[in-house]
Amino acid sequence: MEEQKSFLKQKIDPNSPNKNIVPVTTSIDNDGKLLIAGCSIEGLVKKYDSPLYILDEITLRNSCRAYKKALDKYYPGKSLPIYASKANSSIFMSSLISSEGLGLDAVSEGELLTALKGGVPNEKIVFHGNNKSDREIEFAVRNNIQVIVDNDYDLERLEKISNIINRDLEIMIRFTPGIECHTHEYIRTGSFDSKFGFGIEYLSNLFDKIRKTKHLKLKGLHAHIGSQIFELDPHRDLGEIMVKVILEAKKFGHDIGKLNVGGGLGIKYTENDDPPSIDQWVETISTSVVKSCKKHNLDLPILMCEPGRSIVSTAGITIYKIGAFKEIPGIRTYLSVDGGMSDNPRPITYQSDYSACLVKNPFNINSRNKYTIAGKHCESGDVLFKEIELANCKSGDLICVFGTGAYNNSMSSNYNRIPKPATILVCDGEAEIIQKRESPDDLLKYDVLPDRFIKQN
Ligand SMILES: Cc1ncc(COP(=O)(O)O)c(C=O)c1O
Repeated sequence: MEEQKSFLKQKIDPNSPNKNIVPVTTSIDNDGKLLIAGCSIEGLVKKYDSPLYILDEITLRNSCRAYKKALDKYYPGKSLPIYASKANSSIFMSSLISSEGLGLDAVSEGELLTALKGGVPNEKIVFHGNNKSDREIEFAVRNNIQVIVDNDYDLERLEKISNIINRDLEIMIRFTPGIECHTHEYIRTGSFDSKFGFGIEYLSNLFDKIRKTKHLKLKGLHAHIGSQIFELDPHRDLGEIMVKVILEAKKFGHDIGKLNVGGGLGIKYTENDDPPSIDQWVETISTSVVKSCKKHNLDLPILMCEPGRSIVSTAGITIYKIGAFKEIPGIRTYLSVDGGMSDNPRPITYQSDYSACLVKNPFNINSRNKYTIAGKHCESGDVLFKEIELANCKSGDLICVFGTGAYNNSMSSNYNRIPKPATILVCDGEAEIIQKRESPDDLLKYDVLPDRFIKQN
């Protein structure tokens, strides 16, 4: 409970936004109200309504720059950070990522299209997925986008396409390195139970298979070991394992020039979270790859990493308006907001924790109450906070939930036919819309009533 009183008073680290709960431009105005990038949250809700997603441009850019700067320091001249667009995909995000010189990874034609529309250069995009459609693979090949082969089915289809077009295709493969991560501990297992990638024990076989194709050229390896990871050891181990796999591939004549170590760095959602900085994470993985290559007398490959959450999560906040209260004496007081599991499915899906405060008086530590914050969906489990301490509040007050930039908008739904919120970008006291709010009418767009039902009515 204490955390909800104190997190706003902590010193903000602008260089590694993932270490803060709040966006780096968070401040309080003379009336004690919350501002992000100098913009009044109350003013934004008046103009754009609620619920409202807000993204802070400076926090986003600082995160991108932290990855670039650290890679330049620990792995000079041979790296490419790429943003995992599943965390938050939009034409705006693609454009910002591209303007910072990062690449982008995508897992569907929709994400690929969004990246291209946002101006990410084709050669900086990689295409993932454990069940790519024929159409998606063809789209990637047609647009010269690097495909990360996840399984034999991908391989067969790429071989077929390369034979039809009669030209070489460079590919990367994804494998499971046998490192299983949990947030606060990790274990190494012989084989990793995952739907993604080739088992490490199958790689010799695979390398032989690729060697026998006419046009497939294996140029890179990919592994991603998990998300919201606070420990550094798993990525240290990953670097060593990947270099060993380069050596194995060499035996089959493959010259691996790229290592993509995935994403996974955690962020601070609550006071209990203490993730490493972006600099520490990059230092760990870079040093591990450099040392292992030196040990085995290998040239350094291009090092790619795929952060998602640690680029965009802390930049994002969600604002809700409080509606109904229900007090159950001796048990709890439910406070319902105008959004919930459709704009943020993480609490109901993963029991994820967040930090939140009232917009009008975030620092008020007097007259505080415990609340359960419920969403508006017709689902008992639609609860954003099981128990949170806030200053006394009433219907119509605004609540700000922090750390919602990643895996909220991108995982949102229209459950109960609730339209998705707008997203606003804030920077230097200015606010711009980057995704429009849906309307109930928008949700009817794809419904079709067969003629005989129209006649019937
Ligand atoms: C293949 C791949 N790369 C990158 C990421 C990004 O991970 P994170 O958001 O934890 O940085 C994910 C997310 O799970 C992933 O599946």
